[in-house]
Amino acid sequence: MKHFLQFKDFTREEFEYLFERTAHIKAMFKAYTIYHPLKDRMMAMVFEKQSTRTRVSFEAGIHQLGGSSINLTTGETQLGRGEPIEDVARVISRMVDLVMIRTFDQSIIERFAAFSRVPVINGLTNQYHPCQILADIFTYIEHHGSITGRTVAWVGDGNNMCSTWLQAAAIFGFQLHVASPEGYDINTGLIAPEELPHLTTFADPMEAVRGADLVTTDVWTSMGFESETDERKRDFVDFRVDPEMMAVARQNALFMHCLPAHRGEEVSAEVLEGPQSVVWDEAENRLHTQKALMEYLILGRVAYH
Ligand code: CP
Ligand code: NVA
Repeated sequence: MKHFLQFKDFTREEFEYLFERTAHIKAMFKAYTIYHPLKDRMMAMVFEKQSTRTRVSFEAGIHQLGGSSINLTTGETQLGRGEPIEDVARVISRMVDLVMIRTFDQSIIERFAAFSRVPVINGLTNQYHPCQILADIFTYIEHHGSITGRTVAWVGDGNNMCSTWLQAAAIFGFQLHVASPEGYDINTGLIAPEELPHLTTFADPMEAVRGADLVTTDVWTSMGFESETDERKRDFVDFRVDPEMMAVARQNALFMHCLPAHRGEEVSAEVLEGPQSVVWDEAENRLHTQKALMEYLILGRVAYH
């Protein structure tokens, strides 16, 4: 049994298989072809933080594959009254085929997985957001082909997205340039030795973006850090992706953002809505990549369809 708790839980070869399945599943969806490999399968989704894309893409995705889902939030379940995560894991995983969790510390999802009888997917923690990077890399490949050997520039908070990009850099063989305000650097405690050669940090975001094939950023204040919002607004003021910044990237560089976006903060409206932005494809691909992921975790490799 496999879980997807961090990006590096899968090998490059597994990602290549997933991307092949994604392209196929996406084509079937576009052609209105019914494909129900997960008939009667049930997924439980546990949301301890808010969500739009993750909720809709998983719920629509499992339904389109013939299964269904249950949405659980902290406030509406016994989790909110302090039921131990190990107990919740043992109970839920006897009743469903797959679990997706969005929570705070990575240790919560690891404890859940340790006691789960079924595969567990990380739908975002404070440390990682592997489902988003799965969609982002598929989107890059769709637009520009292989990401191997390319340069990805990360502008802003050294957060869960940034750490997941670095895991992906080591797996796919690309360079990650990171420019963060002082005090908001990538979490060095999460960096594995094999990832270090793929990381270059910059004080100046313009230098990080120069020559990049993909420019990406994220909110200044991630979920769970709301009390720091005012301070962050001051600290991040020079870390906005705007047309001047995009101009120093490669001419055909793409812009991505996991969304939700704050126009005028981490990205200007011109860039978000501009010709280099692929944010809507990126969001849509959450659906298709996660359908391939759910199929793989429940059924393993399929030799048909
Ligand atoms: N990008 C992303 O995960 O969005 P949601 O928070 O809306 O799920
Ligand atoms: N870094 C953001 C991503 C939201 C999808 C957060 O954790 O809130």
